[in-house]
Amino acid sequence: MASGVPLFGVTFRNPVLLAAGTCGFGREVSSVIRLETLGGFVTKSVTLLPRAGNPPPRVAEFGAGMLNSVGLANPGAEAVRRERLPWIEARLQALHVFVSIAGHTVEEYMEVVRVLDDGPGFLGYELNLSCPNDSERSGLPFALDPDALGCVVEGVRALTPRPLLVKLAPNTPDFGPVTSAAEEAGADALTLVNTVPGLLLDPRSGRPRLGAGSGGVSGRALRPLGLAAVRQVRALTELPLVGVGGIVRGRDAAAYLEAGASLVQVGTASFSDPRAPERVARRLAGWVRAGGTGLAGGAPARQRPGAGRRLGSPLGA
Ligand SMILES: Cc1cc2nc3c(=O)[nH]c(=O)nc-3n(C[C@H](O)[C@H](O)[C@H](O)COP(=O)(O)O)c2cc1C
Repeated sequence: MASGVPLFGVTFRNPVLLAAGTCGFGREVSSVIRLETLGGFVTKSVTLLPRAGNPPPRVAEFGAGMLNSVGLANPGAEAVRRERLPWIEARLQALHVFVSIAGHTVEEYMEVVRVLDDGPGFLGYELNLSCPNDSERSGLPFALDPDALGCVVEGVRALTPRPLLVKLAPNTPDFGPVTSAAEEAGADALTLVNTVPGLLLDPRSGRPRLGAGSGGVSGRALRPLGLAAVRQVRALTELPLVGVGGIVRGRDAAAYLEAGASLVQVGTASFSDPRAPERVARRLAGWVRAGGTGLAGGAPARQRPGAGRRLGSPLGA
């Protein structure tokens, strides 16, 4: 495996985590994914109240990935605190776990943190900012509105000393304002990227293939967007970055590290092959042992002085 990654006061066994929404709360995938081979995972997004989610079908495959509209189905913050976190604490101590949280108002994000924060078994939070902001008439997702995003991060920051990852959207018109807003409000790292909105139609009926209509595109098709986002944001901030989107092979993960990420996440690839995340971690270690890629020489020059060292990039500066 790739050597450990020191970050947020702990050491990740390797840079590969499972992405939010693709591994439940660990227990759901523990019989098919060897979690102990990974650096950690991000839970399904947790909302204050339980959510049943969207009507089926919730996922549809296409040639270059997947479209999903799960609708944030989750048992709600109280049940996660009572049942899911103790299981993680008891079984997965060597893993570093982030609880993903979501909401429709700043207050909902804050309330979820109030419920979870003294719970066991997790290191920090990842803020899923893809929900529309219901308290503003624009209804824009928080991730596309720098002011609203800043309010969520600031509100949560005031409640917890735990590491805060702020997850950004790939369809952000300009990463500058959202990056500054997250950093100024106290983010510890940025996760890039969430799914991008999309639609698949059945050619015979002309009807959407998902029960909810449109959804979010993930998988291979998302990789160029994720890499571009990491590269752009790397030039804007020294905060650690977590790269996600379309990672299927070790070389995909290596490319994210070279673009400036310190950690990566694997999502869709594990649906078709539950061994994919473990293989990504193993192959990534092989790339590192072999001295990285032709890309390796270029990376440090694009980073600010000392950034590679501070970020703990396993490909090294
Ligand atoms: C079925 C499914 C459910 C997801 N649920 C969440 C979620 O609850 N919260 C979140 O922040 N991202 C969620 N995502 C997005 C992933 O965490 C990730 O950002 C995205 O899928 C890109 O990575 P990938 O191409 O490796 O899948 C979900 C993705 C999929 C495919």
